[in-house]
Amino acid sequence: MTKISGPLDIVVMGASGDLARRKIFPALFSLFCQGYLPDQLRFFGFARSKLTDDEFRGRITEHLTCRYAPGESCADLMSDFLSRCRYMAGNYGSSEDMLDLYQLMQAEKRCEANILFYFAIPPSVFLDVSRALGDAGMIRCTQEEPWTRAVIEKPFGQDRESSDNLTCELGKVFTEDAIYRIDHYLGKEVIQNLMVLRFANLVFEPIWNRHYIERVWIDWREDLGLEGRAGYFDSYGVIRDVMQNHLLQILALIAMDKPQQASAQHVRDEKVKVLRRISPVTLDHAVLGQYGAATWRDKDRVGYRQEPDVSPSSCTPTFCAARLEIDNDRWRGVPFIVRAGKAMNAKENEVRIQFRSMESNLFSSGRRTLPPNELVVRIQPNEGIYLGLNNKEPGHDLTLEKRDLDLRYASAYPGMIPDAYECLLLDVMEGDKSLFIRSDELEAAWDIFTPLLHKIDEDKLEPDLYPFGSYGPVIDKILLD
Ligand SMILES: NC(=O)c1ccc[n+]([C@@H]2O[C@H](COP(=O)([O-])OP(=O)(O)OC[C@H]3O[C@@H](n4cnc5c(N)ncnc54)[C@H](OP(=O)(O)O)[C@@H]3O)[C@@H](O)[C@H]2O)c1
Repeated sequence: MTKISGPLDIVVMGASGDLARRKIFPALFSLFCQGYLPDQLRFFGFARSKLTDDEFRGRITEHLTCRYAPGESCADLMSDFLSRCRYMAGNYGSSEDMLDLYQLMQAEKRCEANILFYFAIPPSVFLDVSRALGDAGMIRCTQEEPWTRAVIEKPFGQDRESSDNLTCELGKVFTEDAIYRIDHYLGKEVIQNLMVLRFANLVFEPIWNRHYIERVWIDWREDLGLEGRAGYFDSYGVIRDVMQNHLLQILALIAMDKPQQASAQHVRDEKVKVLRRISPVTLDHAVLGQYGAATWRDKDRVGYRQEPDVSPSSCTPTFCAARLEIDNDRWRGVPFIVRAGKAMNAKENEVRIQFRSMESNLFSSGRRTLPPNELVVRIQPNEGIYLGLNNKEPGHDLTLEKRDLDLRYASAYPGMIPDAYECLLLDVMEGDKSLFIRSDELEAAWDIFTPLLHKIDEDKLEPDLYPFGSYGPVIDKILLD
């Protein structure tokens, strides 16, 4: 374990919000308990809500857990952590309010600290905050210590043009080196393991191509409806919320060529290369859906259009399945089926790599082909890696069955599996950008979905209705070769 060097101030913009309370402060507390954070350390929360320091501390305490500090030590660590937390109410676009924040940060300060700004705010105020910070002179342009870094949460724009505009405007305040575009999926253990699985094991690389792989599925299903997030979701939809970022990032790690080195630059170069080889998705290669009312798990569920604050004529897709094709020698002709849906029959996120069938079956004259092998990377729940094999069932007869080689993380690694935000926050403090999205990756990812998104918005395309709690609409049309 290496302790982060130097004094550090962490400023969370939008500190009254859900992400700050449920994810960021708990992750910071975990890192604090594990001894990663420097001794000279302070936290500042900033948002419009009028809260005292104690009210703010009360709010974040609700989600702090003692998993890294069991027993009596936890209470001491918690009180030490909370005593370092200060809160200031202000307006996001006001440089005067940012100057007040600066004054607060100057108080009790012993020397210049590194500053990490975390933008846990809606995208509509990203630019207001950065301009106000810039105008207040709070951003240093050097990457030498003491540094200033900014973590930005998705969504990064609404399409290619707005994303480019955001990149350009943020670039007037922060250098690209100082911007950390976070996609928390990249911090998940199984996702971090994808490169190791592919490039630290001899067995996969020779068969990781169109000659041996028939199809790749990247699936994200959620068994919840809007849960009060209409304001955000109705103007974004599932493609912008999940597919353009999380699922394309996973796809890039599955499909990219081997980087020359495991450095941030080389890995991200390869991700960009493969994303640029994917043609924009057309409507022929996409199925759009929206959930409708149904009784599920013994409860009546409203349909999307009946959700509070959603227009009864909203065409926002809550489901999308898209067939992506990569035009390079490794993947030409292999469909990557990327599918995401809300209000479905389960909460599940996985990658399923389907290998081709063997040409002959040595073991049965009756059955010509054997079931193909499958490699499954389960991201949630029950993260793990499963390899589906044909196996002889024990007994005197020669009976074949399909069985999994099963690397379930919970049993293989019964210790603590760190939360994605812990890993990513630590990387920001260490200046490691491997798991953050570079601006050219973002451009390439938007290019894949922007034409489809424009068509959906301009033509008000009517999505297929699927019942809440179901498997979603039929997607056969995109599976046919
Ligand atoms: N929640 C998650 O799990 C999650 C996951 C991935 C990404 N994100 C992204 O992280 C960011 C923050 O998420 P969140 O769930 O914490 O959001 P949130 O709770 O809706 O908003 C965070 C804070 O921003 C302020 N705010 C809300 N709406 C605003 C508006 N229209 N104008 C100005 N300020 C507003 C509120 O604070 P005040 O009113 O006190 O100023 C609120 O407490 C968003 O960009 C979101 O897309 C969230």
